[in-house]
Amino acid sequence: HGTSRINDKGHLEIGGCDVVDLAKEFGTPLYIVDEELVRRRAREYVQAFRETGLRFQVAYASKAFCVMAMCRVAEEEGMSLDVVSDGELYTALQAGFPAERIHFHGNNKTPEEIEMALAAGIGCFVVDNFTELALLNAIAAEHGKKVNVLLRVTPGVEAHTHDYISTGQQDSKFGFDIGNGTAYKAVEQALAQPQLKLLGVHSHIGSQIFEVEGFRMAVEKVAAFSIEVREKLGATFPVINLGGGFGIRYVEGDAPLPVSTYVKAITDAIITQFTAADYPLPEIWVEPGRSIVGDAGTTLYTVGTSKDIPGVRKYVAVDGGMTDNPRPALYGSKYEAVLANRANESLSELVSVAGKCCESGDMLIWDLKLPPVESGDLLAVFCTGAYNYAMASNYNRIRRPAVVFARDGQADLVVARESYENIVGNDLIPERLRKPA
Ligand code: LLP
Repeated sequence: HGTSRINDKGHLEIGGCDVVDLAKEFGTPLYIVDEELVRRRAREYVQAFRETGLRFQVAYASKAFCVMAMCRVAEEEGMSLDVVSDGELYTALQAGFPAERIHFHGNNKTPEEIEMALAAGIGCFVVDNFTELALLNAIAAEHGKKVNVLLRVTPGVEAHTHDYISTGQQDSKFGFDIGNGTAYKAVEQALAQPQLKLLGVHSHIGSQIFEVEGFRMAVEKVAAFSIEVREKLGATFPVINLGGGFGIRYVEGDAPLPVSTYVKAITDAIITQFTAADYPLPEIWVEPGRSIVGDAGTTLYTVGTSKDIPGVRKYVAVDGGMTDNPRPALYGSKYEAVLANRANESLSELVSVAGKCCESGDMLIWDLKLPPVESGDLLAVFCTGAYNYAMASNYNRIRRPAVVFARDGQADLVVARESYENIVGNDLIPERLRKPA
């Protein structure tokens, strides 16, 4: 998919770059991002919305993969940016991302984070709870500023996805519940706060969603709620944000819908619901993360040791694992992979791919068909663009890999591999523990 192909040497090529060369140049493990594919995905959203004729913003959910080069690509592709922490905000600002196109999310923004975002002049705060509503108003008042807010609501829709990543149901740590009247109270309070300009509501029902039904239901709930607010409080919302969660294909059997299908389901539902109530059509915002970067990422590993348990299984270990991709250990996520240096050979061996962490759960792929594997081979694991580098850790003091953007035969380093100095960079030895000279 994307610009990936097998070249005449039998090597995997991404963005016109032979990955065997990339391994030599940058070392492994290595995250390789197919920049053209990221841009294509972004354009699919923008294009699909343009065709509806409605006003919209496609905000890239930077949590999926937040580095400065990615912020630049998002900006160039006309996207807005959703951040959820001071670190993501800082990254975006350092990359020169236009502050007015940044939306700040999160269920526990600290006063410092709010100050930072306010000083930068970001476009909108997505307010999650009453504590934050009061805090934001107070801080904005101190600075004599008026800020745009969306209220995050829980529409009471359960998306069919992993428990940890579904968020739209009532019993969730996020947002104001529509069903029990909390969201209505939040709107009343927001309207009463002089420093807040209420733009509308936000709903995010989960992640890695393969159907449109959940989005349709969320629109219905949000529309009914907006209409109720207009009737009772006389306020109309100029913006409705439907969050992210659009699924991607990791392995055979995953059946995401085309981007245009999700967009059309959302916009059609908005048009139907709001027009029926004679409600001015709001601007529609969405926040895709995974579906912008997920399938554009590939992680390249070097195969090291192997362990054959006759009649049971063969383990093959690579030079990374749960530190660069915690998703299999965390969610039981599945991945596909190929031997990148012998991608055209027949798949005659069944192996299970282990990471190098001291933990039995550090397995990347169970039962993968490969050509006969040898130490020194390169394994390319696909669809690692989202929530991999973003969730990477230094467990076992393993250094985080480098990230390159590959495009038109050129590979550019966008994140350097961590150094040993980075590993101990924040460590301090108190005087009393120092070794005598
Ligand atoms: N908007 C909000 C408010 C969100 O909470 C999220 C994801 C997104 C947008 C983007 O969702 P996406 O389009 O990427 O599905 N670490 C998990 C995923 C957690 C998603 C959290 N929120 C994973 O690796 O699957």
